[in-house]
Amino acid sequence: MFYRNLKFPKIKNRPFFYTNFVQTVDGKVQVLKNTKDYWPIGSKLDHEALLELRAYSDCLIHGSNLAKEFGEITVKSLNNSAFKRLRRNLGKNPTLPLFVITRKKSVTHPMWNITSLDPKALACELYTRGYKQILIEGGPTLLASFLKENLIDQIFLTIAPKIFGNINSSTLTLVEGYLFPKKAIKNLSLLSVKKVGNELFLRYNLGN
Ligand SMILES: NC(=O)c1ccc[n+]([C@@H]2O[C@H](COP(=O)([O-])OP(=O)(O)OC[C@H]3O[C@@H](n4cnc5c(N)ncnc54)[C@H](OP(=O)(O)O)[C@@H]3O)[C@@H](O)[C@H]2O)c1
Repeated sequence: MFYRNLKFPKIKNRPFFYTNFVQTVDGKVQVLKNTKDYWPIGSKLDHEALLELRAYSDCLIHGSNLAKEFGEITVKSLNNSAFKRLRRNLGKNPTLPLFVITRKKSVTHPMWNITSLDPKALACELYTRGYKQILIEGGPTLLASFLKENLIDQIFLTIAPKIFGNINSSTLTLVEGYLFPKKAIKNLSLLSVKKVGNELFLRYNLGN
């Protein structure tokens, strides 16, 4: 395993939230048009690391745009027998619940738990349900709303050795839709760095 014996601290009164993104050297996490030409951004190993980070989680959270794009693929991979085995080996329930955050009442899906609560209320509800460590997979807009409320504890960030560039806001970066005021700029501490080939796997603490 890439992330063997991963341990997360317990937090009082809310779950421990972590996120996982892959970005290019120029900080891009997605290109909005002709997406398929640019995806995947990371390597096969990066994808394996993503599955492992999911396996450690008590539930998974997607923003509605991420779910629209990758929700079906995600559900398929959560139902994969090797993934369920990995969870069993980690002592987790083999079924990983997926929560999709949207304000739209019209969105329904048999495998998605749809919720529109604000991040603080959602954190409280999920904690009450017994979820103690939670992977928020983004996207950048959802990540912004959790970061704003100091609800992201760790960031797993893969740097892929690529440069996409940008024109007319055609790309997304890690955090979108919110500019932190000077006094609230996030200062992170680097917990670990793994280099495999030309790819870097970084793990940051937010220190909320
Ligand atoms: N490179 C990577 O590692 C990586 C990782 C994740 C995602 N991505 C990319 O990121 C893109 C999606 O990101 P995005 O920023 O466009 O969208 P997103 O964060 O997935 O979803 C944003 C949407 O979620 C709903 N939402 C967000 N915060 C909410 C809140 N606090 N309360 C209620 N609803 C909330 C709103 O949709 P409604 O209109 O439905 O209410 C909002 O427009 C995809 O293209 C994906 O490929 C890349």
